[in-house]
Amino acid sequence: MRHLLTLFDLTPSETRQILATGQRLCDLHTAGERPSILERRCIGLLFEKPSLRTRVSFEAGMVHLGGSSLFLGEDVGWGKRESPADFTHVLGQFLDAVVCRAKSHQRVEELAQFNALPVINGLTDLSHPCQSLADVLTIRQSFGDVTGRHVVFVGDGNNVARSMALACAMLDMRFTLACPSGYEIDQAWLDRIHQQYPNAKIERACDPRDAVRDADAIYTDVWTSMGQEAEREARRKIFCNFKVDQPLMKLAPKHAIVLHCLPAVRGEEIAAAVIDGPQSAVIRQAANRMHAQKGLLAWLLNRNWVEQNVPEY
Ligand code: CP
Ligand code: NVA
Repeated sequence: MRHLLTLFDLTPSETRQILATGQRLCDLHTAGERPSILERRCIGLLFEKPSLRTRVSFEAGMVHLGGSSLFLGEDVGWGKRESPADFTHVLGQFLDAVVCRAKSHQRVEELAQFNALPVINGLTDLSHPCQSLADVLTIRQSFGDVTGRHVVFVGDGNNVARSMALACAMLDMRFTLACPSGYEIDQAWLDRIHQQYPNAKIERACDPRDAVRDADAIYTDVWTSMGQEAEREARRKIFCNFKVDQPLMKLAPKHAIVLHCLPAVRGEEIAAAVIDGPQSAVIRQAANRMHAQKGLLAWLLNRNWVEQNVPEY
């Protein structure tokens, strides 16, 4: 049984196949076609943090593909009413897969360990793999082949940055994190990346102005992630020189696109003129959450269709 807890669960070839499937389903969607390739399939969305994009993109995506989804909020009592084993085995009787957004990564690992149904990480403090699939799809649409493209992430070495660094390592892209001291991606994650992908090109910059000069994509995320609200004031001061604003964009190549996983705080990590400006790809990036995840769901639940309809990746 396959799970997607982090992108370490996929090979580069599998990731490329999922992305190509996502692009094929995106093209079909644009042409007004919604093939029923997951007819009568049902996934659960088990969320203990808020979400707009992840929830709605999975729900709408399942409907487009002929299936459906169930939103499982607090009332299902995950971790409260019964043992994790009973909870997960029962879910496995009803559902084809579960997407899980949890307060800790261990909670998602715990669900997956029973192999009762495929578990997809819909964001944890450690990682946000579905976001990275959509991000790479967005870069692929902008530049064709992603090989050698340089992603510069300005801000916190958080879940989104960690996943993107890994996605870049897997797909032969360069990744630079420009962050304040103490907010780098943790060494354990970097070591794991380098062990798996010895040629990974991952750098750290102290000054975003140096980092963006040869960027193809400039990526940022909020300074304060969900669960870190108590640090908000301190983080505002620590990150104040790590914002994607017009002076920074003047130093970047004209062809560089701007990415943000959203939700954004205009005036903090990104200026309104940049996120709403001509180089911004953020709305297409959000749209790609659905297309990439359709690719993932098709790959997990109807591999025959993928193999017959997406021959090249
Ligand atoms: N980018 C993202 O995961 O958005 P949501 O928190 O709205 O799902
Ligand atoms: N880093 C952010 C991403 C939100 C999609 C968070 O974890 O809150």
